Amino acid sequence: MKKIVVVGSISTDFVVTASKRPEIGETVTGLDFKTTFGGKGANQAVASARLGANVYMIGTVGVDIFGNELVGNLEKNHIHTDFVERVTHKPSGSAHITIVDGDNNIVFIPGANNEINPARITALTEVIQDADIVVVQNELPQETVTAVINLCYENGVKVIYNPAPARKVDQSIFEKTTYFTPNENEFHQLFENLSISEGLAKYPNKLILTMGSKGVYYHDGTSEQQIPAYKVVPTDTTGAGDTFNGAFAVAISSGLDMAESIRFGNLAASLSIQKFGAQGGMPSLEEMKESKHFEKTWNIK
Ligand code: RIB
Ligand code: NA
Repeated sequence: MKKIVVVGSISTDFVVTASKRPEIGETVTGLDFKTTFGGKGANQAVASARLGANVYMIGTVGVDIFGNELVGNLEKNHIHTDFVERVTHKPSGSAHITIVDGDNNIVFIPGANNEINPARITALTEVIQDADIVVVQNELPQETVTAVINLCYENGVKVIYNPAPARKVDQSIFEKTTYFTPNENEFHQLFENLSISEGLAKYPNKLILTMGSKGVYYHDGTSEQQIPAYKVVPTDTTGAGDTFNGAFAVAISSGLDMAESIRFGNLAASLSIQKFGAQGGMPSLEEMKESKHFEKTWNIK
């Protein structure tokens, strides 16, 4: 089993399903409300753990009922939670999601997720050094994300940076990542002056651009590559990117090559979006193997 360390957000998702989004000042009557487990970090950790990886979560929740539930859910998914801290002065993080026709928009309230600082990352140096791969996203303070990437870079530990949600960052950080995985919208916010093709060529075998149903793009050093998405009718695309990242981490740390690891991630994502909730539908390795698209050469260790 590969050891994957996820440094990231852990949140409760408050999910409203409606047949239309309200205009400003308008009230619409929705169809349903559910509370589910989310947070991009926790989602990526769950995606990797379901696929059999040995996952350590580093993050922060509040001392409230949500915090208990969030940690309990990680444990239920066989994730190590010794490095999930509880803070008293901030509530657990939350995301407020509206789903219309399977597509979402999200308001994220960081709460306790903003309390993880670079000093905590330094304190956990040994945990991070020992990882086969580290995964980090943007629902944490940027200085903390930077500390994680610097620590990995200095210690030769592979790191996947999922720059979601988008924010401006010092571009030198990308040189220090092993992989970074924006979606189309995040790419354009990060690189205002670069076209997609220019960006891919600038970061060969490093920039992995996820484009939803249009598939995933990267540059292999010689030419641009597109790995198509598996066609499915989505129920809820929330967490599709997280599932991709968690599954890609498992595949690439198992020794699959770039194209195969992306295919593996795409297949996991296509299964996950057929069920409601960010973590609902994230497949186990057995469920992946039941898919007609699973390749026998995908040797997950
Ligand atoms: O990527 C999806 C996740 O981001 C949701 O689970 C929600 O927590 C949001 O912030
Ligand atoms: Na889902």
